[in-house]
Amino acid sequence: MDLDVAKDLIVDLTNENNSWRESTINLIASENVMSPLAESVYFSDFMHRYAEGDPFKRFYRGTKYIDKIETLTTDLLKGLFGAQFVDVRVLSGTMANLAVYFGLASPGDTMLANGTSDGGHISHTEIGAAGCRGLKVYQYPFKTKECEIDMHELKKLAEKHKPKIILLGNSLYLFPANVKYAKEVADKVGATLVYDAAHVLGLIAGKQFQDPLKEGADIITTSTHKTFPGPQGGLILSNNEEKFKLVKRALFPGLVCNHHLHRLPALAIASLEMIKYGEEYAKQTVKNAQALGKACYEGGLDVLAADKGFTKSHQIAIDTSTKMSGSEAAIACEKAGIVLNKNLLPGEPGKNVFKPKGIRIGVQEMTRYGMIEGDMELIASLLHRVIVKKENTKRVGEDARELRSKFTEVKYSMER
Ligand SMILES: Cc1ncc(COP(=O)(O)O)c(C=O)c1O
Repeated sequence: MDLDVAKDLIVDLTNENNSWRESTINLIASENVMSPLAESVYFSDFMHRYAEGDPFKRFYRGTKYIDKIETLTTDLLKGLFGAQFVDVRVLSGTMANLAVYFGLASPGDTMLANGTSDGGHISHTEIGAAGCRGLKVYQYPFKTKECEIDMHELKKLAEKHKPKIILLGNSLYLFPANVKYAKEVADKVGATLVYDAAHVLGLIAGKQFQDPLKEGADIITTSTHKTFPGPQGGLILSNNEEKFKLVKRALFPGLVCNHHLHRLPALAIASLEMIKYGEEYAKQTVKNAQALGKACYEGGLDVLAADKGFTKSHQIAIDTSTKMSGSEAAIACEKAGIVLNKNLLPGEPGKNVFKPKGIRIGVQEMTRYGMIEGDMELIASLLHRVIVKKENTKRVGEDARELRSKFTEVKYSMER
C-alpha cells in the first residue's frame, strides 16, 4: 500500500471511530469515558518517558515531575479507598491479577474463583492468567437464580482443596459478594482473600457497593477504566503490608518495567472527580441500571434476577435466547446504534462462549453523559424494538442517534 494512502487511512479510521462512537449509545459494561480535563492531561510528554522504580528512588534521571504526580495520585487513591498501600504502576486489571498470582502463589498451587459463565473473568481461569502462572483453579458453585455465590459450597471446596487464593469479583457482577464470610473461610484454610474490583471500582469509590477492604479482603486488584472513569490501567490496593509487599515485588521488577507514565495525571484527575462527585455519579448509575432492568422486564425481556430488583451494580443481564441468541442480539443492537456485548449467563455451559444465551449491559458511560431513569426507559424501548419486535434496525437507529445527540457533555467532572 502507498504510504500516504495508509497514513490517510489510519487518520480517517481513527476520526470515523471517534464520531461513530460519539453517536452511539454505549452500553458496554467495561468501558467509560474520561472527562475533558483528564483527557487533556493524558496527552503529555510523560507518554515518551521512563521512570522505573518508586518515586524519588528511580533508576533514571528526568523524573522530578512524575515523582510528584505519582505520589499525589497514590495518596488520593489511598484516601478514596481507605487503603494504606496502593500501587499505581499496574498497566491493566489482568496484570494486577497476574501480580497477585506471582506474588502470593507458586505453580501447582490452587485457587478458588468463579467460572466464566457465572461471571468470572478469563484472567481467573486456567486458560487465562491463572493458568499462565500454573495455578490449578476450582470454580466455586454459583446460585444461578439468585446470581450469587453459594458460600457454603465455597467453604466446603476451600476445606477440601486448601487454596492459596480465594478470588471474589466478577465481570458479570450484579450483586455484592459475602466478603466477610469468605474472609473467615480464607483465614481458616490459610488462603489470601483477593477481591477483583475491576468492574465496580467506581461504585466502591462512590460508596454504593460493598467496601471490600473494610469487609476483609486482603488485596484488591482492579482496572481503572470501567465504572471508575480513569485512563485504561490497573491498581493494587491493600491494608496488609506483608502481602502487599509480595505482590508489589512481583509487579516491579517482575511484570512491569516502565509504567506508562501519561496515565497518572489522568488517573489523579479522575480520582479527584470521584472524591468530589463519586457518590452522586455512583448513586445515579445504580438507579439507572435498576430502572433499565425494570423497563426491559416490563417490556417483555427476560432480565435476570427480577425477584431481587435486577441489580445492585451498574449492570443488568438479559436472556435473549427465546427471541434470538446473545450474539444475534448484540449484532442487531449495533446496527441500531446501541453497542453492547453478548454474554454467557450463569449456569450456561462455557462452550457456548461464541453463541451465548444473553447480553450484558452497563449504564455507567451513559450516566456520565447525564442520562437518568427516564432515559433508561427510552433505551429499554429501543432494545425491545430490536430484540422482541425485530424492527428494522435502520429505523431504530435513527431514534437511537436522536436520543444520543441530547447527551454530549461528560458530567461529574472538574474543569480547569
Ligand atoms: C473482573 C475483571 N477482572 C479483570 C479484568 C481485566 O481487566 P483489563 O482489561 O484491565 O486487563 C476484567 C476485564 O473486563 C474484568 O471484568
